[in-house]
Amino acid sequence: MTELVWDGKYKDGKKQGPVRVALPFQTVETVNESAKDRQRTLEWFAAGRETEWRNRLIWGDKKYVLPSLLPEFAGKVNLIYIDPPFDTGQDFSFTATLPDYPDTAEDETAYFVKEPSVLEQKAYRDTWGVSSEERHRGVQQLDRYIKWIYETVVLLQELLVQNGAMYFHIGPNVSHYAKAVLDEVFGAERFVNEIVWKRQSAKGGAFGGINQHGRIHEVILFYARSDSWVWNQQYLPYDDEYLSSFYKYVEPGMGRRFRLSDLTAAGSRRGESGGPLLVNGDKVSPAPGRHWALGLRSGETVQTAMHRLVKEGRVWHEPGKMPSYKRYLDEMPGVPLQDLWTDIRPVAPQGSERLNYDTQKPETLLERIVRTSSNEADLVLDCFVGSGTTAVVAEKLNRRWIACDLSRFAIHTTRKRLLGICGVKPFIVQNLGKYERQVWQAAEFPASGGDGAEAARQRDRAYRNFILELYRATPISGHVWLHGCRGGRMVHVAPVDAPVTLADVKAIAKEVWKAAGTGKDGPAKAGADILGWEFAFEVNELARQVAAESRVDVALKKIPHEVLDKKAVEQGDVRFFELGALSVAPQQKKRELALKLSDFLIPIDDIPEEVRKAIKHWSQMIDYWAVDWDFKDDTFHNQWQSYRTRKEPKIELEASHVYPEAGKYTVVIKVIDILGNDTTKAIEVDVR
Ligand SMILES: C[S@@+](CC[C@H](N)C(=O)[O-])C[C@H]1O[C@@H](n2cnc3c(N)ncnc32)[C@H](O)[C@@H]1O
Repeated sequence: MTELVWDGKYKDGKKQGPVRVALPFQTVETVNESAKDRQRTLEWFAAGRETEWRNRLIWGDKKYVLPSLLPEFAGKVNLIYIDPPFDTGQDFSFTATLPDYPDTAEDETAYFVKEPSVLEQKAYRDTWGVSSEERHRGVQQLDRYIKWIYETVVLLQELLVQNGAMYFHIGPNVSHYAKAVLDEVFGAERFVNEIVWKRQSAKGGAFGGINQHGRIHEVILFYARSDSWVWNQQYLPYDDEYLSSFYKYVEPGMGRRFRLSDLTAAGSRRGESGGPLLVNGDKVSPAPGRHWALGLRSGETVQTAMHRLVKEGRVWHEPGKMPSYKRYLDEMPGVPLQDLWTDIRPVAPQGSERLNYDTQKPETLLERIVRTSSNEADLVLDCFVGSGTTAVVAEKLNRRWIACDLSRFAIHTTRKRLLGICGVKPFIVQNLGKYERQVWQAAEFPASGGDGAEAARQRDRAYRNFILELYRATPISGHVWLHGCRGGRMVHVAPVDAPVTLADVKAIAKEVWKAAGTGKDGPAKAGADILGWEFAFEVNELARQVAAESRVDVALKKIPHEVLDKKAVEQGDVRFFELGALSVAPQQKKRELALKLSDFLIPIDDIPEEVRKAIKHWSQMIDYWAVDWDFKDDTFHNQWQSYRTRKEPKIELEASHVYPEAGKYTVVIKVIDILGNDTTKAIEVDVR
């Protein structure tokens, strides 16, 4: 058997498969769900009933997301489209724009006319690293890439329903390897098409001095799970040359274009279909060796069928000549779509569809795929959704969808894009939260032995040292809460599975204060950087208070998700952002609550100099904000939002809500800033 073999494919003669840990999804946000639906969902959920379907946007690595989808969705997904990185070694970016702030109320138009400052940030990396030891063994990047592709495809195939289909979008640099992998996983007989998408027009001249033909296409490999699959034939309009050579007749007065086709077929016949017929009073016989082929309806004779066609105006007849059938252009579906797609243009740099997310694919491309291989209400999955094209198209075409991506910019872009669809159905935003981090920690920092408690201690130490190294801090020992030291400040690294609480902050501050000026590891100033994955709501507000009381300068910094991405770590792309500080002025009038954002600070060090210069007002740093007027169950229910788009760069700074009933409510406000980070704030209100 012919087989593609990559490093690590087999271990002790056994084929190595993907990680198969199924982790529970955490619903962190609901979007567009009415209070009534939300209440019903909660009740059903509490009663153990299956809740209504919600489309799902999942932030996480496909490595953990796909196995976690298996328990619920194995054999249930109708269509998969993926557009993974193509192993190009490039980095791809997300470009945030900082709109100008009008100096005066009259200057409002400045939002629209002035050139915005641009903040380019890395959205994802397309590199597959090999260690020097591996390189020494002859392992190449390609080995790692193909292994990654194989692990992805194995799980995707299991998720497909029996008559489901998968479209794998890939570059011509690696499409041949991908095809071999897909043949292996699906079976070569499940290969349906290799679609060639012409993604750009002809390039001119020599290509960077290399003598080669212009590379202007990408490949989409289409596989089916079994020997039958959903198929809705798609058609293209006829081209002008075809129309002018075939549809050259126009119905006088009506303008309908038509072509002429034969009313006879090959083969002599005896009887009526081989003999003469009356057509408009003329007696006409089929040519020698042919017979009438009129498509008889029940009860018709050949002659009555001809009369009917004449009456319907379907027969073109010049006296003395053979009659022909009139085939109207407007009744023809078009040319059946072939596997060469040259009619779909890429997203234009200035086009209205463009979202500043590199590698965004055109909606028309996805529309074609979704229409061909799925029906309404079918489930569509894309685990590399990027700017959200698949989810948006599935939503617009009334399919259900699950979309996943590793990049926070992808999730943010997709969420905003979906919100822009008029009448978008409710959807949820999920992640694997602490569970993904726990699995990552266990896999990345295995203990070398010892009992359970000792092994756990070893793992924790290795994890903390790894984070400290990324933060460029020196590990220290002998403290309970303090793990490192950087630039004269102490550093605390929170565990992967618990949010930093106010009690933690107090304990850290206390220990810093004790340690200040003592011993060789003691900090010069009483300052602490607290690095955490999650922070309890009140921490950000109250940490300042704790800091003032304990005279310890506390900075709360988020450990970014990129820490889990080996490529980001290798490239030094891990940045620890300090939590933003949001000020909100609430105003209550009877049952109406009005919120006005009054200040928002993100540490200036996190913003590049050229963008910093363009900041005149704190609100320019807000890209999106949303409010949950009645926060209850650890899930943020997005009930109101305002955000910037390229077309509408202005953002509202006020929101209001009328409560149907008096009572005490927790209001949560979530801001996503131009760096793609979110800041949340909770306020308590007593509505009378
Ligand atoms: C080529 S882009 C997809 C573009 C998308 N088709 C669109 O129209 O915008 C590839 C995406 O894969 C994501 N990605 C890369 N590795 C991933 C992983 N391990 N898990 C999930 N997403 C990943 C990247 O963040 C990026 O958004």
